Amino acid sequence: MRFLQIKHLTTEDLNSAVELDRLCFGGLWTLEGYGRELGSPNSDLLGLWSSETDVGKSARNLADTGVPPLQIPPILIGLGCLWAILEEAHITILAIHPRFQGQGLGQALLWALLKKAHYRQLERATLEVRESNLAAVSLYKKFGFKEAGRRKRYYEDTGEDALVMWRSGIEKPEFQQYLAVEKVQSCDRLHQKNWHLAIDTFEF
Ligand SMILES: CC(C)(COP(=O)(O)OP(=O)(O)OC[C@H]1O[C@@H](n2cnc3c(N)ncnc32)[C@H](O)[C@@H]1OP(=O)(O)O)[C@@H](O)C(=O)NCCC(=O)NCCS
Repeated sequence: MRFLQIKHLTTEDLNSAVELDRLCFGGLWTLEGYGRELGSPNSDLLGLWSSETDVGKSARNLADTGVPPLQIPPILIGLGCLWAILEEAHITILAIHPRFQGQGLGQALLWALLKKAHYRQLERATLEVRESNLAAVSLYKKFGFKEAGRRKRYYEDTGEDALVMWRSGIEKPEFQQYLAVEKVQSCDRLHQKNWHLAIDTFEF
């Protein structure tokens, strides 16, 4: 069985965060950069952990032989960060380990960031994304983000434009209801991929 948990990062997780950052972004933030987020009251730095056990897979055999279940300890497979600036949530990081993409985990992590933003009573969320990053753009649009402009040649490596996207109304009670519906859909999707959510994963 595969288990999933989303929670705030701690100092012990920083090396794993930098490693994952390198894999997903080629080294966007340094260890110090991630460390600064932990100390900031205006920042939510969330990690998504996966852990595995072979219980359920071969439970009958294990019971027969008395072999203890194999427990693979949690590994960090996703990162999400937001900065609360005035009444805005700036989503600065969203990444899922390449081996785990396309299974609904990015959706779950973005859900968690928006839940945090709602909890902080922020009014709108914003982010910048490469125009060519179709997966991310599609994910943001799925959550109601709209393209509001672009920053010309924003990315130094390719000279590509950044799309600036906004999602408004996140402080409203309707948004809470929207999140509740999204949570059910996200959970269903994850279950289909054999992910089992830790009880507190969606309860901050
Ligand atoms: C963007 C990213 C976080 C998406 O995470 P993910 O776990 O793969 O996405 P999910 O499986 O949760 O998919 C959710 C939605 O995202 C979009 N999406 C994800 N992968 C996609 C792809 N390859 N092509 C098009 N849309 C895609 C879809 O809208 C999808 O919903 P759908 O399956 O109902 O169509 C992930 O691809 C990633 O980490 N990329 C590298 C880092 C990055 O670019 N981060 C964004 C910086 S702004």
